[in-house]
Amino acid sequence: MAHVLLGVTGSIAAFKSCHLASDWTKAGHVVRVVETAAAERFVTPLTFTSLTGQPTRTVMFPDSPAVPGDVAANPQAPATINHVKDAAWADVLVVAPASADVIARIAAGMADDTLTSTILAYEGPKLLCPAMNVHMFDNPATQRNLGICRDLGWRVLDPAEGNLACGDTGRGRMPEPEEIERAVAALLGGTDGDGATASQPLKGLHVLVTAGPTQEPLDPVRYLTNHSTGKMGYAVAAAAAALGARVTLVSGPVALDAPEGVDVVRVVTARDMFAAVGEAFADADITVMAAAVGDFRVDEVSAEKIKKAGRESMTLRLVSNPDILAWAGEHKRSDGSQILCGFAMETEHLLANAAGKLASKHCDMLVANNLRDKGAGFATDTNLVAVLTPSEQDAGTPHIEHWDLMDKTALAKRLLLRLAALRG
Ligand code: CTP
Repeated sequence: MAHVLLGVTGSIAAFKSCHLASDWTKAGHVVRVVETAAAERFVTPLTFTSLTGQPTRTVMFPDSPAVPGDVAANPQAPATINHVKDAAWADVLVVAPASADVIARIAAGMADDTLTSTILAYEGPKLLCPAMNVHMFDNPATQRNLGICRDLGWRVLDPAEGNLACGDTGRGRMPEPEEIERAVAALLGGTDGDGATASQPLKGLHVLVTAGPTQEPLDPVRYLTNHSTGKMGYAVAAAAAALGARVTLVSGPVALDAPEGVDVVRVVTARDMFAAVGEAFADADITVMAAAVGDFRVDEVSAEKIKKAGRESMTLRLVSNPDILAWAGEHKRSDGSQILCGFAMETEHLLANAAGKLASKHCDMLVANNLRDKGAGFATDTNLVAVLTPSEQDAGTPHIEHWDLMDKTALAKRLLLRLAALRG
């Protein structure tokens, strides 16, 4: 079952989009339609909503939440960011029919209505199905724009030849729904028509992930640790494998099963984790450090259980552990082929602290979350994060995006696609 986002633009071929919406829904996919204003002249939103059981998006700024309960589920989310939510929600994006106008707007990177805004925010596999008059299709401007769309990662289904609604004959008919459905199945199945990877954009890459807490022993019985459960790092490792990467997960002690297809290296202390990362790092294309590493360890671990011995207090001398992320930041290749992402869990001054870590540890991205935010932090299945990246204009002021509350799996996928894009 996949989340299919179907963009519909103004063309008589929009009636075929009803078949697409209906077929995919019957096949068990969840289909959400985004219509342009011109598309609404051909098929009403009510038709699509009735076929899919999902809200049909038509306007950028709805007066009330388009999905009942959206605001209740996340009071911080205004109703006007559906385009970002839909883009994160979708597994595949199809624009069928795609008019000459929307193709031009996509090629120009415009975001002047809800469909093009959604498209600009979307990062997964995408299919364009042009449908228009033959002369409009053959026009060099349209052909140039289609070339740009291909370069931007769109799979383009060439229109079929035949009688067109305008009376002309030639190329311009939208392909039949069966052909579009086959192309979408191929995109979801991991290959596009040319055998390249479409839903496995990380194929060929090595992703290194750290996860979980570390444990620093005091004596054979006791240790210092933290509340990390490893959920975020494990979600990143699982998503990286699902997106086609070879994955090494260096994990502190957690109660989670190894994600399928992931090579897990189990460690206990920060120094063990440092050694395991040191082994794998040079070969990693993308490194995500989600572990909650103990900053300090006990200077001298007692060989025997420490006894109370009638003491009212005792002092432990702690020494600092290696900062693994900072080490990786210093040792990453300088040609931009190795991407480094850290996490920061804070209880105060979230953005200032995170910006400091982004810069001092030479990260390409830093994901910041506040332990005190509802839905964020240890042991939850969701996370609410701010994503920081260095700004080219001003090294001291990073670029900051605030992402919606989302489950850790969706967040992991989105992060990895961003990191892969940073790698260029
Ligand atoms: N990290 C690391 N090695 C350490 C400490 C932290 O690799 N010894 C990594 C974490 O995996 C995380 C990032 O650095 O990706 C930030 O960790 P965090 O604990 O938030 O920050 P610290 O650098 O330890 O700073 P502080 O504890 O003062 O907030």
